[in-house]
Amino acid sequence: MRSVISIAPGKSILFGEHAVVYGFPAIAMAISVNSECRINEIEENKIKIILYNYDQVFEANNIKTLSQKFSSKYNQISECFYNFQKDYGVQIENVEIKIISNLFPSAGLGSSASIAVSLINALNCYYELNLKKEEINSLAYELEKIVHGSPSGIDNTICTFGNAIYFENGKFDYVKIPQEFLFLITYTNIEHNTKEAINRIRHLKEINSKQTEQFLKQIGKITKKAKVELTRNNIQEIGKLMNLNQKYLSNLQVSNEQISEIINISLKNGAFGSKLTGAGLGGCVITLGKRKDLEKISSILKAKGYKSFIAKNDKLGVICEKK
Ligand code: MEV
Repeated sequence: MRSVISIAPGKSILFGEHAVVYGFPAIAMAISVNSECRINEIEENKIKIILYNYDQVFEANNIKTLSQKFSSKYNQISECFYNFQKDYGVQIENVEIKIISNLFPSAGLGSSASIAVSLINALNCYYELNLKKEEINSLAYELEKIVHGSPSGIDNTICTFGNAIYFENGKFDYVKIPQEFLFLITYTNIEHNTKEAINRIRHLKEINSKQTEQFLKQIGKITKKAKVELTRNNIQEIGKLMNLNQKYLSNLQVSNEQISEIINISLKNGAFGSKLTGAGLGGCVITLGKRKDLEKISSILKAKGYKSFIAKNDKLGVICEKK
């Protein structure tokens, strides 16, 4: 009986979220907290989908019946199956597909992109299609559009390729995050909706276009500077740029009370810089600092009910193991 496991990292955006949707650059890092998709061949003539995190199981004899059973929340999964049948002539049958994500959901850590990339790569691997990462990435982008409306594509790209990237208008270069740069990621305990955050800024742009464009442009400039400072290992300056980036995100109305509380605690306790990461309106905060400071910050935040962890940079991107 055939079996594959595909694993895709999550991500954290260091600079440039939201501005990246309008063509400005952003820098993102893949993190070693991941999503996985297992496909096992089964004897029964059916397709069984297990969404482990949602405690949901769906079963049917064919894709059409299966997708009718899905709520619209899982549209991207049925879309993915249809695309594979249509584009690659693959008949999805006699399989159990289990999807597990170790990422906080709707928290700015790329859970939807990471799940999409791991699912696509699992199908690629199981049906031996030999798709290149570029193709996996563009298929994942199509699924991301279903979930987020008009995403920039940075999330699917970083979850596919791993490492850290400087992304602009659908293209990217790898950037190196110096090893001594440690990032603490803290969850605000608030699930956010990326589409809602993107729409909020679009609305802001409609009602106050000049100022909103100015904020987005400033974020673009900060990201460009950060790219240079990363090559200089200038941790102090990177911290300052993170704080400045946060100021503009706050002007764009995607920050909130919990994000500010986490940032204030972090900066008071020795962090070089701290900002929201991802779409905002909740989700996570990313903080740059020395290990001992980050550990102290983490325990203060824990006492306040916030979970955090020091992120490891994933270097592999999506991978697949066959059994
Ligand atoms: C979400 O992780 C990042 C945003 O910039 C949206 C996007 O780039 O698609 C908010």
